[in-house]
Amino acid sequence: MTAQKRQILVTSALPYANGAIHLGHMVEHIQTDIWVRFQKMRGHDCHYVCADDTHGTPIMLKAEKDGVTPEALIERVHAEHLRDFTGFHIGYDNYYSTNSEENRHYSYDIYRKLKADGKIVSRTIEQLFDPEKQMFLPDRFVKGECPKCGAKDQYGDSCEVCGATYSPTELKNPYSAVSGATPVLRESEHFFFRLGECADFLREWTAGASTLADGRSQAHLQTESLNKMNEWIDGGLQDWDISRDAPYFGFEIPDAPGKYFYVWLDAPIGYMASFKNLCERSGLNFDDYFKADSTAELYHFIGKDILYFHALFWPATLQYSGYRTPTGVFAHGFLTVDGQKMSKSRGTFITAQSYLDCGLNPEWMRYYIAAKLSSKIEDIDLSLDDFVARVNSDLIGKFINIASRAAGFISKRFAGQLAAALPQPASLASPVCYAGELEAGAALLAHLQQQADSIAQALEAREYARALREVMGLADKVNAYVDANKPWELAKQEGQEARLHEVCTVLINAFRLLMIYLKPVLPKLAADVEAFLNIAPLSWQDASQLLLGHTIQPYQHLMTRIDPKQIEALIEANKQTVEAAKPTAAAVEPFADTIGIDDFAKLDLRVATVLDCKLVDGSDKLLQFTVDLGSETRNIFSGIRKAYADPASLIGRKVIVVANLAPRKMRFGVSQGMILCASGVDDGSGLFLLDSDDGAMPGMRVS
Ligand code: MSP
Ligand code: ZN
Repeated sequence: MTAQKRQILVTSALPYANGAIHLGHMVEHIQTDIWVRFQKMRGHDCHYVCADDTHGTPIMLKAEKDGVTPEALIERVHAEHLRDFTGFHIGYDNYYSTNSEENRHYSYDIYRKLKADGKIVSRTIEQLFDPEKQMFLPDRFVKGECPKCGAKDQYGDSCEVCGATYSPTELKNPYSAVSGATPVLRESEHFFFRLGECADFLREWTAGASTLADGRSQAHLQTESLNKMNEWIDGGLQDWDISRDAPYFGFEIPDAPGKYFYVWLDAPIGYMASFKNLCERSGLNFDDYFKADSTAELYHFIGKDILYFHALFWPATLQYSGYRTPTGVFAHGFLTVDGQKMSKSRGTFITAQSYLDCGLNPEWMRYYIAAKLSSKIEDIDLSLDDFVARVNSDLIGKFINIASRAAGFISKRFAGQLAAALPQPASLASPVCYAGELEAGAALLAHLQQQADSIAQALEAREYARALREVMGLADKVNAYVDANKPWELAKQEGQEARLHEVCTVLINAFRLLMIYLKPVLPKLAADVEAFLNIAPLSWQDASQLLLGHTIQPYQHLMTRIDPKQIEALIEANKQTVEAAKPTAAAVEPFADTIGIDDFAKLDLRVATVLDCKLVDGSDKLLQFTVDLGSETRNIFSGIRKAYADPASLIGRKVIVVANLAPRKMRFGVSQGMILCASGVDDGSGLFLLDSDDGAMPGMRVS
């Protein structure tokens, strides 16, 4: 099929070692894994490496907070990350760590070469320093009031309220997010990579393309990325600060005690380190892939947020240290859930682990993500209803059902054996209709086989949505053939044995061809299908042949439908993780002065049923309640609208009311009591209505 065997090295961005893998990460690793599996099926030498990104201040501080060493933290997280990715069938050839000897080796090597080339300079800069914690503070660890709009508690680099960007020294009333101390300016010597000197090279590289072993041309960047990089290059490239002062978890810079490489210097070098480690174990030749004139292909799959590092810093770093540069940097958009940013409070910040723990099949997600992915940098929306509908109707309804409808007859009526030959049509040209004609089956299969190249082109170009649309279009044709030939009716008719055998053989073959095309997306299912069909692992090349006269295994259930209840459980599970996060002691208000039992007895607390609850015209804080206290009905205004946007949903709740509070005249009427709520030291969005267990009756006393 492809004459020239390609040597390809592929990476996904290295996840930080201080957080759990979530579905956003999974989008990237699924996208990469599908591409790698496709290349391997095509017979190319393709290697897929990744690692945890283990260095930097956040990881150092997280370890300290957890009371462990950074080494212990990253070891634990490495095991968790690998478990999650493996759970989604991501097939790395190596999943390593940036805190490795190989990474130290290449980081030193690259740094020394850049230095020898005059690309490293040192300069003294002023930076905010935490006098209590005795450390320099990264921008994200300085907080204060936005210099533009005055919003409180904003990070040192940008304001989440007005969007302004600034330097941490511009914040008003700054404080250290680590200790709370007021930071002071302090001088320190830093090392810089002279990126400005690389502008000519970068302008050429970003707009350039590589010629591949098979003669095709591969642009280094997508058009959207190229435009963005041009803006940045035109804006002038600043020297890049690559050093950080102790205390820092990372590699100490050679001949510079107390100075460490900034995490983003050694992180992409982690790609090389992971590959080097693979080479040592597998006998691959590292230089073939990384020497300056290497003809091997190197691709990085990344999210749009880290383009700057991969499309500017990284190629420049490689170029000026005498290594090859990437063949392509493939950026993708961000995952949203039901049209919104993933959110912890809505339960849509879905961790990989929770997905698997809820018993959801990882291949459902692989299929859905693939059905949404293109080569563009567009955000990808996981619509939960659409997820259920599409997996159930396409994957199960259109694809899996082909096998389940034919396999029973093959095993029961033909001892598991497929027909040895199919009636051949006069011409194999794409048929118009697959109805009852004898030769329709062979023509249908020929049509399916002819699509192999077009589907391969779509996968090669990372146009997965297009590839899956083509495959599902073919599945529709197969299902039309099923409906036209009705094997279940043939099975009941006298003298139709041969016809039934032929139709079922066509269907099993159609299923096998579609499985080849879907195998990069559904590797576990493909392995199960290979076992069921009693065949060797399918390669792309196998689409040129049919399976005839061959004995298959009895049909085993291959994949179930999604039950929407599983999705509800998933959302709940992710809400719980957040609720489990207790407030820190500092966020808990101090307790009030001690009182005696007599003071407490003065409060008359009662159970009350909410009869009605409405918004209040002219107030964005209040809700108006009508409550039943057993012996009387009362009107109460309560300032909880922010936390309960849908007042009707509160009707029927059995709340707790202070029944003997003096009535209070308000602009909107008289409030006859108070409804109890729990709240933090917050702004009203964190209010929680108290209510009573089943069985409590209106008017009952609370004591
Ligand atoms: N450690 C750096 C990458 C270093 S690569 C030499 C990093 N880590 S990360 O854990 O924050 O992100 C890892 C990858 O996941 C990035 O490519 C990032 O774009 C991607 N994603 C993180 N959240 C995402 C979504 N919500 N959606 C899609 N991809 C997302 O950045
Ligand atoms: Zn602001």
